[in-house]
Amino acid sequence: MKIIIGPASKELGEKTAELTNLEAVQVSLKTFPDGEVYIRLESSVNCEHVAIVQTTSPPQNDRIVQLAFLADAAKRNGAPNVTAVVPYLAYARQDKVFLPGEGISIETLARMLKGAGIDALVTINIHSENALKKLPFPTTNLSAIPLLAEYFVQKGFKKAFALAPDKGAMYIAEQAQEVLGGDVGHLEKQRDRYTGQTRQTGMGLKVKGQVVIIFDDIISTGGTIIGAAKILREMGAAKIFTACVHPLLIGDAQNRILEAGVEEIVGTDSIPSNISKVSLAPLIAIALKAQESG
Ligand code: R5P
Repeated sequence: MKIIIGPASKELGEKTAELTNLEAVQVSLKTFPDGEVYIRLESSVNCEHVAIVQTTSPPQNDRIVQLAFLADAAKRNGAPNVTAVVPYLAYARQDKVFLPGEGISIETLARMLKGAGIDALVTINIHSENALKKLPFPTTNLSAIPLLAEYFVQKGFKKAFALAPDKGAMYIAEQAQEVLGGDVGHLEKQRDRYTGQTRQTGMGLKVKGQVVIIFDDIISTGGTIIGAAKILREMGAAKIFTACVHPLLIGDAQNRILEAGVEEIVGTDSIPSNISKVSLAPLIAIALKAQESG
């Protein structure tokens, strides 16, 4: 197996190649004056199974096209199998028709990727397990939550309260609790599908005097975490931290979260950022080694 270092995940790709001892295939990328993408493998894949490490955070549409072009290039270069390692899988939130007239974006995207030559997908904490059922190739969905929780154990916060900002993220908080060994719970969150506005409540949570870590898959605008922090402050939490797998951090999200009383925001290198303190490379390395030997 060889690892193609996608332009969106250079550092993560290099780290994974180093940990797995697999040869890295570098990529040259340029954009034509009209905005079209040109991409080329700088060395041969030599008819080996390849894994392309390429996240699809914003600018997601560009990165999806780059991924598709890389898969095609690898296949034309003789790769019998192409595994896409896409830590943050864009469009996974539109995994069903919520309102009449919508499509299922993740299904369309997956069909496009399969058409480009992708045979299997490795992703991390996909937004909904339901999205996986829409994908036309074998998938491996890994969880980075134990690694994030371990970060807080190392900081001395064993026994912290693991909080999910909504019921859907409860499985995430439970995975964190297994590492932290403290209490676990979730807020209630309702979203208006037309306006996108959310409402959160925290009835029955016993967080007074506790160190609380809010775990979520994605931090996008920060609204969910800011709302959760406000409730936690009102309920008397002693310290508030937050951790996410995919730090999209749109606009001023980071500052707004800190201003809301959160002491630290921790993310992974699923999306490179200044809070990407936990690397996914060890997790991806194990999955690729298993694919290689299986
Ligand atoms: C939603 O269900 C997700 O798990 C995240 O809570 C959400 O995407 C975060 O978005 P934002 O940061 O914009 O509130």
